[in-house]
Amino acid sequence: MIKNFFISTAISYTNGPPHMGHAYEIIAADVIARFNRLQSKNVFFLTGTDEHGLKVQQKANKLEISSQELANQMSKKFIDMGDGLNCSNDDFIRTSEERHKKAVKEIWLRMKDNGDIYLDDYSGWYSIIDEAFYQESELIKNNLGELLSPNKTPVEWIEEKSYFFRLSAYEEKLLDLYESDNEFIQPPSRMNEVRNFVKGGLKDISISRKGLEWGVDVPDDKSHSIYVWVDALTNYISALQWPDGGKLYDNFWPGDLHLIGKDIIRFHAVYWPAFLLSAGLPIPKKIFAHGFILNKGEKMSKSLGNIEDPMSLIESFGVDQLRYFLMREIPFGSDGNYSDKLLINRVNADLSNDLGNLSQRCLSMVKKNCNQLVPSKGELMDVDLELLNSIELKKNNIIKVMDNFQISSYLSEVFDAISDTNKYFSNQKPWELKSVDEERMNTVLWVTCEMLRRFGILLQPVIPSGSSMLLGLLSISEKERTIDFLNDDYALIPGDPIQNPEVIFPKIELKE
Ligand code: MSP
Repeated sequence: MIKNFFISTAISYTNGPPHMGHAYEIIAADVIARFNRLQSKNVFFLTGTDEHGLKVQQKANKLEISSQELANQMSKKFIDMGDGLNCSNDDFIRTSEERHKKAVKEIWLRMKDNGDIYLDDYSGWYSIIDEAFYQESELIKNNLGELLSPNKTPVEWIEEKSYFFRLSAYEEKLLDLYESDNEFIQPPSRMNEVRNFVKGGLKDISISRKGLEWGVDVPDDKSHSIYVWVDALTNYISALQWPDGGKLYDNFWPGDLHLIGKDIIRFHAVYWPAFLLSAGLPIPKKIFAHGFILNKGEKMSKSLGNIEDPMSLIESFGVDQLRYFLMREIPFGSDGNYSDKLLINRVNADLSNDLGNLSQRCLSMVKKNCNQLVPSKGELMDVDLELLNSIELKKNNIIKVMDNFQISSYLSEVFDAISDTNKYFSNQKPWELKSVDEERMNTVLWVTCEMLRRFGILLQPVIPSGSSMLLGLLSISEKERTIDFLNDDYALIPGDPIQNPEVIFPKIELKE
């Protein structure tokens, strides 16, 4: 039976254009989505934009355009970024769409019917940048003595009538949830953080704002808008046609993975499961919080003004190059730095030299010496079998590594095998064998081509264009590129055509 797999990114605010942090998240989600498709699963990969709330409204006011206009402009940029990064999302949800607003009202009504929503007076701190309420004890002071949120964003004091969600009623249930599945929140350090937060005691939370023009109205009370996080989190099911129901919802909910940044773990691991429990809906299976992309050690963010534009990096270096760098350089779950120099070094060493040169050298020899056909296999020696079997031996382990979202370790395993193949090629010296032992030369070239086929299959999730080009050069049909084809039964058949070699990853020159 075919397995279903649902993966989502966070949906991005439309108060500004996308930056590298957003690019990083959608690339990682795309890699995981593609890896699951490689395992022949039926994947639904969702991303989108979070368009309501004060933050967007204020930015639109500043620009003297409507919030809807700003959301239209920015969501287009997010869609273009996803396309530019070669992301394979199945849908792009916008929270200003009717299909979404309908779901937000419905989840509100279900929580209300369950007795979890009540009207009261709110007084407390609010950060517009975080769109989050904070308790005084969570705030920090800057050098000037001003109070800031734990994310170092400004906070303001708010006193207004507000609807509250009875979060306090879910403390035990949430702790039970974390207890019953201690991999619910990944990586494990985040699980501890969340568990400690909940153990510290949960207070009811304000879930409406008064006087906000740009939001979904509270059902039966137009003077309040639904808190943007109740609104935003619901995207994960509104995109699956909830509450109408149907195949999408049945196949893909509860979702397998919400991929988010570490700054929004509380909303996903505490509030969202509580809202779902209240509404009588199943909770997602896993939440993975990745780290931040830093610029010289500082978080990249619009408010700090130190952002890199992913689209211009794609133009300068290429899509696969950017994807590979981000996925290889930063252990998934940790923070990591971006710089052009780091990218160039990594891409030149791994993609241009190790993988690109190997394929260029091998396929050029095939062209010159084997009529551009897969060479004859001949008799395999121990050294050949050892290399071929190394992938077979690694296979289960690397699938496990990737299933645990250790993307960078996965790549390092694959590139170790590429490096072993380079050593094999250099040691076997097929170019010297031509005149002395042509049969052996053919075998060495066959083994190397077959290793390239396997690398092409394994690297598709991360560098889809380069892998597709490599597999195309080896004339591997589109249907034979999943993990199932990663074994001897589907090895290259001598005499099959090989295409004209082409440079897959040209070396990048570092401009001073
Ligand atoms: N709108 C909310 C999410 C709602 S999800 C139901 C939000 N939007 S955001 O635009 O601020 O961030 C979108 C995602 O990008 C978040 O997961 C966030 O952690 C991630 N990143 C934003 N800046 C980042 C970096 N500098 N590095 C890596 N990811 C970070 O939060």
